[in-house]
Formats: sequence, C-alpha cells, structure tokens
Amino acid sequence: MTNASPAVQQLRARAPQAQPRIASVLGSGWGSLTGHVRDALRIRYDELPGFPQATVLGHSGELWLGRIGAHEVAVMSGRKHAYENGDVKGMQLPLQTLRALGCEVLVQTNAAGSLRAEMAPGSLMVLTDHMNPSQRSPLVGAGGSERFVSMVDAYDPDLRAIAHAVAARCGVELHEGVYVWTLGPQFETPAEVRMFRHWGADAVGMSTVPETILARHAGMRVLALSLLTNMAAGLSEESLSHAHTLSTAYAASDVVGSVLADIIAAIEL
Ligand code: HPA
Repeated sequence: MTNASPAVQQLRARAPQAQPRIASVLGSGWGSLTGHVRDALRIRYDELPGFPQATVLGHSGELWLGRIGAHEVAVMSGRKHAYENGDVKGMQLPLQTLRALGCEVLVQTNAAGSLRAEMAPGSLMVLTDHMNPSQRSPLVGAGGSERFVSMVDAYDPDLRAIAHAVAARCGVELHEGVYVWTLGPQFETPAEVRMFRHWGADAVGMSTVPETILARHAGMRVLALSLLTNMAAGLSEESLSHAHTLSTAYAASDVVGSVLADIIAAIEL
C-alpha cells in the first residue's frame, strides 16, 4: 500500500486535515460508539475504493473521522467477514489505508458466543489471545520476512490494562479470555463447542482474527473486545440465530458504546 492508493487519495481529498492515530472496527452491538465521535465526517464505504460493501444486517458501511477525547480517530462502522465470500483478505485494504493515514492502534469489537457459564450474555470480554483453527491467513501471498509476524502479545498488554482500568472506573464488569475464530457463517456444533472449551478457549466468533493478523503485520498495536451475545451452541436451551445475536447486542449497545469511547479516550499513544 502506498500513500497514493485511491482510497488514501480520496480520504486526503475529503479530509485534508485528518490525522487519525487510532482506528476502530465496530462489530454487532458496538455501533453506538459513533455517537461519541466529535466533529465527525462520515464517508460511505462505496466512496472509498476497496472498502467493503456491507452485506450483513446490522453493519452499515461508513467510515467516521473525528475525535474521541483528545484523540483523532477513524471508526469503521461495518466490516467485511471472511464468511461473505471465503476471502480472508477482505479487510486488508481498509486497514492498510488507515495505517497509511497514520493509525498506530486498532481497537476491534465483535459479538461472540460465550464458552464460560460465568460470562453471561450481555457481558464483555477483552481478548488476551486468539485461536485460528481453520489456519486461514490474510498474509498468504505476502512477501518479505515481515510476513512471519509474531503473534505473541498480539493483543497489547498495555491496552488491555487500560481497558480493565476504564471498565472498573465505569462499574462495568470486563472478563478476559481467549477468542476462537470460526469461518462461519453457520454456528458451531455442540461438539465443536465442547472441543473449543477443552482447548481453553473462552469465546467463539466469526471475525476479528484476520484483522488482528493484518494489523500486527502492519505494525499496529491491537485491542479487541467481545460483546457476548449468547451462550455458545449446546451450552444453553436458547436457540441461536443472527436475530438473537442482534437483539442482545442492541440491548447492551448504549453501555458498551460509552465504555468503548472511554477506553479509546484513555489510550496512551
Ligand atoms: N458463534 C459464533 N459467532 C457468534 C456467536 C456464536 O455463538 N455469537 C455471536 N457471534
């Protein structure tokens, strides 16, 4: 990615003064963060060459440039999922674009299924690590020795500590744990869920991991937060559906948006 890529050029033309240093990607239920973006300039993804054309209900497809606290931010409302077309590189160009604009930190959010009884639907988890059992990587085909990127502390310990401190200050319980990525779009079988629990995973979801790999490759620090919208398959009587995910997500939306805004404001660059 050069600074002259069409999406970077378009953003420079639309927002010549913008110098965001923190990027955020909003998953289901996290959209209310945009209400905390000051002096916002909203740019639709279809105006940005290579940005995803959203296909999932609940993902609107806009880039918000503005400020949260003292930080300039670039917030992606809507992401591309690998399950849409099998391509795990769908977020490569947007993330490279935000990196080229100056973003050094990526704050990711998602909706996930809980694998632990004490993490009830509606609660939050900060990722300490992830598992990628499908072993799909957005770096396949990348050149150079940088492609062999370390995934140790992929979720930045200092950013995780900030998230915990802010959540405690807000009186919001923040669990921490390991996120296991499934390609989807089907939910897991109960047998898969038993296997993931046995492996030591704490939550399961269909996003975030490709973006973390891309962001680490691009030298960005990563923080990722899950909103647990349900107990994973077989762990409760409730039947799973996207509508159920969205309804739990929206019920928690105001709280999680404001905690997320406080976490972003507290990040030290
Ligand atoms: N599994 C996978 N992805 C999800 C889930 C789940 O149970 N809930 C929300 N996203």
